[in-house]
Amino acid sequence: MKGIVVYDSSYGNTRKIAETIVETLKESGMEADLFSVKKVKKLSAKDYNFLVLGSPTRWGTMSFAIRFFLGKVKSEEWMNKPFAAFDTELPGNIEKGEGSAAEKIAEKLRDKQMNQLLPVLKAVVSKIRGFSLKEGEIERAKEYARELAIKLKKE
Ligand SMILES: Cc1cc2nc3c(=O)[nH]c(=O)nc-3n(C[C@H](O)[C@H](O)[C@H](O)COP(=O)(O)O)c2cc1C
Repeated sequence: MKGIVVYDSSYGNTRKIAETIVETLKESGMEADLFSVKKVKKLSAKDYNFLVLGSPTRWGTMSFAIRFFLGKVKSEEWMNKPFAAFDTELPGNIEKGEGSAAEKIAEKLRDKQMNQLLPVLKAVVSKIRGFSLKEGEIERAKEYARELAIKLKKE
């Protein structure tokens, strides 16, 4: 199975999680291409079996670039294909259950009749700006990708 992992990132936190997910998927026997959202030119569902999408949470939602990218995910092509979504958020945002980029991405992809394999991953950052992934979040991303690979193998 081959997937595409697309992320947006200003300070490297979401990129680090995306890289970890791709590495771990590969270790788990999956093929996966990694793209910054700024580098994806065209997206063909024929090339991929699954999609993983990640964004920093900004103003309680996904980044503008990820929202734009979602417009390229055509329901008629991606319908029934598996997906997972992740984001980076501040701890207070998660505790209070405030708007999450990953939850909003998942909602949009479910609306396109895609198949959500796992609950979203919310990786914790401690600062609004800069690289500040909380300790343990890389390990949690690895665990998430291992679980994702198990689910993908059952597809
Ligand atoms: C303009 C702006 C708005 C933000 N809004 C939120 C927010 O609503 N909730 C939250 O948890 N974090 C918010 N953050 C913090 C981001 O989640 C943090 O910058 C992001 O996780 C960093 O990811 P990156 O390194 O991949 O860019 C905001 C950051 C910026 C710069």
